[in-house]
Amino acid sequence: MGEIGFSVVGLGMGASRARLITETEGARLVSVVDLREDLAEKMGREFGCRWQTDLDDALNDDEVDVMFILTPSGTHCDLVVRVLDAGKHAISTKPMEVTVDRCDLMLEAQQRSGKLLCIDFERRFEDVHSKAKWAIENGRLGRLMMGEARLKWFRDQEYYDAGGWRGTWKMDGGGALANQTIHEIDLLRWLMGPPRTVTGRIAALNHKIETEDLGVAIIEFESGAVGTILGTTTFPVSDYQGLEVHGTEGAMISTGEEPRWIFSPGLEDRAESIERFAPYENTIQNMVAAVRDGAPLICDGHEGRASVQILNAVYESARDGSKPVKLG
Ligand SMILES: NC(=O)c1ccc[n+]([C@@H]2O[C@H](COP(=O)([O-])OP(=O)(O)OC[C@H]3O[C@@H](n4cnc5c(N)ncnc54)[C@H](O)[C@@H]3O)[C@@H](O)[C@H]2O)c1
Repeated sequence: MGEIGFSVVGLGMGASRARLITETEGARLVSVVDLREDLAEKMGREFGCRWQTDLDDALNDDEVDVMFILTPSGTHCDLVVRVLDAGKHAISTKPMEVTVDRCDLMLEAQQRSGKLLCIDFERRFEDVHSKAKWAIENGRLGRLMMGEARLKWFRDQEYYDAGGWRGTWKMDGGGALANQTIHEIDLLRWLMGPPRTVTGRIAALNHKIETEDLGVAIIEFESGAVGTILGTTTFPVSDYQGLEVHGTEGAMISTGEEPRWIFSPGLEDRAESIERFAPYENTIQNMVAAVRDGAPLICDGHEGRASVQILNAVYESARDGSKPVKLG
């Protein structure tokens, strides 16, 4: 099989993903698509590929194997279902969608088409997180007891006003948790396993938005471990995001600076033997390997749905006086 052809739809964050495709061996950027013609043309010229404003043009293009959807979150379902039903593989940016029901429609389309559905959680490929997954799967941290996901960033009111979709329930699916902290929520769920209950609280403390600029949650995992989530866009600057997990024998702390591995006395040499869970550096590499050789996706649609399920539960709990929400 020759190079895998990609089309990128939505050219805000999509511009950086288009560049990544041009830099990835085995991938070829065939086209870029945006409703805004000026933007599509500018990016098409920059990357030397076709540009379009109508999704159908890319859906009917035989050179396109994979379509990468980077439009506002509440549109992912409609576009991904069209892509899959047209017989092409799909990648959706995060979050997969704004509700679990809409994720399920995407999963149904994936099943009926037999095509691949991948969700772009790029932090899973970072060295420390790939190693943390391997360490946990191979028992290096012992029995997991606690995981913390945190993000303290700054976003001004202009950010929320631009585009008219951010900070809305319908299109952003929430606020600081759904848009920014979702990467840490995904990592927490990936590393700690399925949740049993979620208790949440949200507030809008410094922005005029209908969703939250600050959210906190407590998770009880099926394993018996406990987790916390804290995410906000009210911090004075955007320099802090972190994940900490620990078990009976060791801990991993990744707070954006140098990650730390901590082991119980006598087990310190475990730090040297930790391997990566997967060899890919990013979603594009993973997708190329999946289309070419049937390699497993590091984040498929079921994995993508899992963090939306947590998000929806945080909001449901918050609306219901912070009563715990049970997840089946
Ligand atoms: N690190 C990350 O993984 C990351 C970072 C930022 C944003 N995102 C995600 O990317 C998505 C877009 O966010 P953004 O900040 O780039 O938004 P944006 O508003 O800057 O850009 C979205 C673009 O999509 C275009 N668009 C909208 N509907 C379309 C359609 N039906 N067909 C073609 N084009 C369409 C718009 O014209 C716009 O140019 C969101 O889901 C967001 O959560 C992911």
